[in-house]
Amino acid sequence: MAFMNAKTLIKLCDKCYWNPLTQTVIEDNHILVLTSSMTKLLAILIDHYDKPVSSVDIFFHIWDDYEKEFNPKSVRNLISNLRKRIPCLIINNYYGGRYVLKKYRDNVPNITDYVLEILDQAKNGVTISDPNLPDNPIIFVNEAFSELFGYTSEEVIGRNGRFLHGEDRDQISLKEIQKALQEERDITVTLRNYTKEGELIFNELTISPIFDKKTEKLKYFLGVQKNVTAIQKLIQQIKRML
Ligand SMILES: Cc1cc2nc3c(=O)[nH]c(=O)nc-3n(C[C@H](O)[C@H](O)[C@H](O)COP(=O)(O)O)c2cc1C
Repeated sequence: MAFMNAKTLIKLCDKCYWNPLTQTVIEDNHILVLTSSMTKLLAILIDHYDKPVSSVDIFFHIWDDYEKEFNPKSVRNLISNLRKRIPCLIINNYYGGRYVLKKYRDNVPNITDYVLEILDQAKNGVTISDPNLPDNPIIFVNEAFSELFGYTSEEVIGRNGRFLHGEDRDQISLKEIQKALQEERDITVTLRNYTKEGELIFNELTISPIFDKKTEKLKYFLGVQKNVTAIQKLIQQIKRML
């Protein structure tokens, strides 16, 4: 067996590691047999860990252009086979044929990878906060949230959601949110928020409490962020005209 140094292993998901020296996957201490195309696919995704890789780049990494003509379907099928072979991998696809191998999220132990993957594919921003930690910090954001506000998940996790309105606190809805959170009930409001670049976004925010099924105690808050900037601007324009 090839020499393995535990320090060189990259954790892909629970009990599943990538050995970059031998280009193999070790699952539960066994080498997982993959086809050579799957191995090449995994290698390029790991090289771009948490960053998007285009379908074309993946294709030409796996097949030479003289060997096969570019076809996004071949990449899609291979991705789907790899997902089936290693179900715990989080590979997201984005509009325009880009794929991202997401970081394994150790910090959200009670939410399964499967749920996280579904949330990651949602079109609206999704955030989860933990009200049992001081100042109710965000513990999860999906990809759509990062795209909308321009912050990576690392820049958001651990902060209270109020950083999105920053100094713009003269908003009646903020008091309504405070009250709803205290009373542990759903709320939908529209807030003025700002992207990392400082651009104004009208955010239709829905927050819902999530209770533990057994203890019935409040466990998380789920936030859904919808960009309603265009419609809000239209409403303001119409109001000015009347
Ligand atoms: C799950 C969740 C998501 C939130 N998302 C946002 C958000 O996108 N934008 C925002 O301005 N506030 C958001 N908030 C609201 C703030 O975190 C905070 O509750 C609000 O500013 C009122 O409290 P405060 O007066 O203590 O700041 C969110 C809250 C929760 C619980």
